[in-house]
Amino acid sequence: MTEVADRVTVFRPMKTDDLDTVMAIERGIYAHPWTRGNFSDSLDAGYYCWIAESGSEIVGYGVVMMVLDEAHLLNLSIASWWQRRGLGRQMLKFLTEHAVDHAAQCMYLEVRPSNVAGRALYAQAGFREIAMRPGYYPAGPGCEDAIVMEKLMP
Ligand SMILES: CC(C)(COP(=O)(O)OP(=O)(O)OC[C@H]1O[C@@H](n2cnc3c(N)ncnc32)[C@H](O)[C@@H]1OP(=O)(O)O)[C@@H](O)C(=O)NCCC(=O)NCCS
Repeated sequence: MTEVADRVTVFRPMKTDDLDTVMAIERGIYAHPWTRGNFSDSLDAGYYCWIAESGSEIVGYGVVMMVLDEAHLLNLSIASWWQRRGLGRQMLKFLTEHAVDHAAQCMYLEVRPSNVAGRALYAQAGFREIAMRPGYYPAGPGCEDAIVMEKLMP
């Protein structure tokens, strides 16, 4: 697929006014979406919450929490109609560089073993699997483990 994301998207900080659209995207791409409260708590806590915008349309978002010199990627989401156009890769690069600019030495994230797209994206970006968290995620009637991934910053 042609990488169009570079030419048409900008990144800007998320605002409370964005949350209706963010929640519509979130509900469309996750079986177990974040709640509106998860996003507003992230904004209130001062986490780095970013929107990817094409024209005036929100097409993705990401949330990063800093703990001392560790960046924790809490959410990375691309609207379903914008996936597979290079935006996830571009947004991850942006969030990583922004975290480095704010003194991050490493970035951590959790991903479901069943999330083929997410795992491939992170592996391609230089993250490595370092641990498992048993039963971390809700999944249908039960739970799903989480793979913990780490990237050390140069
Ligand atoms: C995971 C996600 C962020 C990827 O964003 P995207 O914009 O579609 O991805 P890109 O087009 O930038 O692709 C980058 C790489 O990701 C991987 N990838 C993306 N979609 C994939 C898919 N459906 N299957 C396999 N690999 C995939 C590939 O390695 C791809 O590189 P390639 O194009 O050279 O093969 C997006 O699919 C998404 O928002 N999914 C739902 C939410 C989610 O799972 N977020 C991550 C939670 S941990």
